[in-house]
Amino acid sequence: MKDELLELKTRALEELKSVTENPQLEEWRKRYLGRRGHLTLLLKRLPELSKGERPPIGKLANEAKEELSREFQSKLDSLSAREEDESFLDVTLPGRRTPRGHWHPITQTTEQICAIFSRLGFAVVEGPEVELDYYNFEALNMPKDHPARDMQDTFYISDNVVLRTHTSPMQIRVMEKQLPPVSIVAPGKVYRPDSDISHTPMFHQVEGLLVDKGVSFGDLKGTLTTFVHQMFDPDTKLRFRPGFFPFTEPSAEVDIQCVICKGEGCRTCSYTGWLEILGSGMVDPEVFKIVGYDPEDISGFAFGMGVERIAMLKSGVDDIRLFFENDIRFLRQF
Ligand code: PHE
Repeated sequence: MKDELLELKTRALEELKSVTENPQLEEWRKRYLGRRGHLTLLLKRLPELSKGERPPIGKLANEAKEELSREFQSKLDSLSAREEDESFLDVTLPGRRTPRGHWHPITQTTEQICAIFSRLGFAVVEGPEVELDYYNFEALNMPKDHPARDMQDTFYISDNVVLRTHTSPMQIRVMEKQLPPVSIVAPGKVYRPDSDISHTPMFHQVEGLLVDKGVSFGDLKGTLTTFVHQMFDPDTKLRFRPGFFPFTEPSAEVDIQCVICKGEGCRTCSYTGWLEILGSGMVDPEVFKIVGYDPEDISGFAFGMGVERIAMLKSGVDDIRLFFENDIRFLRQF
């Protein structure tokens, strides 16, 4: 009977190992420890033993019963602990979304500017930031010793290669390749060795150029007025102030009524009530000659604006450098 007992215990423990569900466990309990279970039945046969055999076998049987009961309890505990764990997983809860990024504020503003001109029929083109002196200066009516080159300091790569100081070289690149009519905007990075609260050595411009028969200064004013009204408020006042650029004649700088004080005068507009937002003018006949257009036959206007400046005015940011620090707390606000 001793062997029978030990063999029974071993089998019971072995079977218990493969139990993974509660109903299975209950069956196991009934099979070994229940009223008609194997162990219970075996215990009932103790009286058949001789007086001498009874105590040691009885002791062994009781120990086996205790061990199986203990193992049963710990299995029960581990199964219900697992069930509790699983109840924390509520599959009906909405999932966690992957955080989404967005365009940089300067990219957003560039897109807005280009979208307005696209609707007016302008095509969007792009060109090189590392530019030949010829396109950046020479062909824009600024020969090597021209004093207007001092208007902007320049990063030189070599004698004939510069980081473009403006997007105006795109005027030449486009006219060189196609005949009038031309209507393009050219967004992109430009470079000047400047650095303070309102200047960064790299910033962005959007250039515009329209050439056709009979284009007048009135067309320039109408186009830029429409742009300002769409970019800012539809009732924003603007003024065209005489200016100078070697590649336009006449030239005009465009101011808008200060968006902060509405013309009352404040720190942002240096108490003038006006903010300069772009340079513009009628394409100089000299430039047309350089690209092989006949200035007697056609005319055109061009303009160039700073994207950061427009972004700052629209959002009330007062330090241009914030755009390039890549502080996520700043960028998230756009
Ligand atoms: N390129 C000029 C600048 O960077 C702006 C401009 C463009 C002026 C086109 C007139 C015509 O200051």
